[in-house]
Formats: sequence, C-alpha cells, structure tokens
Amino acid sequence: MIVKHFINKKEVALNIAQEVFLKMSHQGVKRIAISGGSTPKLLFEILSTAPFKNNIRWENIHLFWVDERCVSPDDAESNYGMVAKTLLRHIVIPIENIHRIRGEAEDISAEAKRCSEEVLANSKTNRQSSTLFDVALMGMGEDGHTASIFPDQMDLLNSKKIYEISRHPQSGQSRIGLTGEAILKSNKIIFMITGNEKKDLLMQVLSDPTSTDRYPAANIMYKAKDLEIYTDIAVG
Ligand code: 6PG
Repeated sequence: MIVKHFINKKEVALNIAQEVFLKMSHQGVKRIAISGGSTPKLLFEILSTAPFKNNIRWENIHLFWVDERCVSPDDAESNYGMVAKTLLRHIVIPIENIHRIRGEAEDISAEAKRCSEEVLANSKTNRQSSTLFDVALMGMGEDGHTASIFPDQMDLLNSKKIYEISRHPQSGQSRIGLTGEAILKSNKIIFMITGNEKKDLLMQVLSDPTSTDRYPAANIMYKAKDLEIYTDIAVG
C-alpha cells in the first residue's frame, strides 16, 4: 500500500491525470474503471482541458464504470451523466471505448449481466488469472463504502459476479456496481480520497487492519496487490 500525499485536491487530480491517463495511454490499450461521486469531478475537468485533452491518446483508453445509480443519464445523480458533461463532451474518443452502465434500464438485473459480459469480453484471461481492468479508480464514502458496496452489504465483496445490484442504505436508491472480487481483478487500484471530512476514517483504516470487517473500502485496500492512495489528507 502506497500513500501519495499532495498539497491540495487539484494536485491530487493533476497527478492522477498525468500518471494514469496521460502516461498509460501512451503504453497501449488500457481499461480504466472510474468511480462517480463528487471527488473525481475535478479530475475529469482537468482531463478535458489542455495539455491533457490533446496529449492523451484517447483511442487507447477504454472507460468502464465502477458503479452507476439507477437513474437516467441526464439526472444530476447519474455517474455517466457527470462524466459526459465534464469530460466526454470535450474530447475525441471512439464511442466503442465508452462502456457505460445504463442506469435507466427497466430490468436492472439484466443490465448488470449485460455489463458483466461486456467487461469479460474486454478482459485478459489466462490459465492462472483473469484481469478485468488495468486500473480501478476508487472513492471512499464517509461511511467507509466504496463503489456501491455499503457497510451493511459486505457480502457484495465476495460475490462471484462482476456487477451486482445494491441499494443505498439511506435513500434506498438502486445501484449497479462492481463486486469486491471484480475490483480486485485490476492490475492496479487507486483510491482518490480528498477533504478533511474523511481524515478520521482514513487514519482509522490505515492504522487498523481489522477495519476490513467494518468498511468495504478498507477491505479492498488490504486485499489489493497493487494499491495507491492519492490524497490531500495529512496522515503521517
Ligand atoms: C458513487 C461512487 C462512490 C463514491 C464514494 C465517494 O457512485 O457514489 O462511485 O463509491 O466513490 O461515495 O463519493 P464522494 O467522492 O462524493 O465523496
């Protein structure tokens, strides 16, 4: 586990733009699973402007979604909608590289299955292992959730499926999100965690390995083979 500390959230976003998107896009085709929520917005805005906009080889980037809220793409809650507005509208990227989850689907179980098949069709499998993503870009909620795996739904960490249905514990909103097992089939997992409101939780997770039993984010962090945390929180 490597913690990379930056002075503010803009530096966090700039460094992910540089290390993940710019650098990797020049190394061949890369499958990147992106999270929603508010934290990555700044990253997408940075990616949609110079120098990143024109220097990233977008034809090499395949975007997958870590999770989606079950709403239409023009709803303010839509994770795809947020990326469309802040990034996709401003860059030239082949449409077949955008592997969105249809949050508006009537049959969300069928949609979870369809998305799982799409991920598998792009996966790299050999006899020993299967890699679904080159990078999974994760967030951590203030309750310790990650993707759409909430602390009261720890069983989703161990599901054998790629995408499962879950529910937001307070609002009851349905979600389609990657399972823990699927997230872990990424070559690299990066958590982007900014803002002092997450300081206590991050300190707790980093100092207490038993936090894996309480917080889905901690569970993924401790199990990941290659994990980096990009943060503006001083944890030292
Ligand atoms: C979502 C997410 C989710 C997110 C965390 C952190 O759709 O809500 O993908 O897992 O990463 O909730 O969200 P914030 O960045 O808004 O704190």
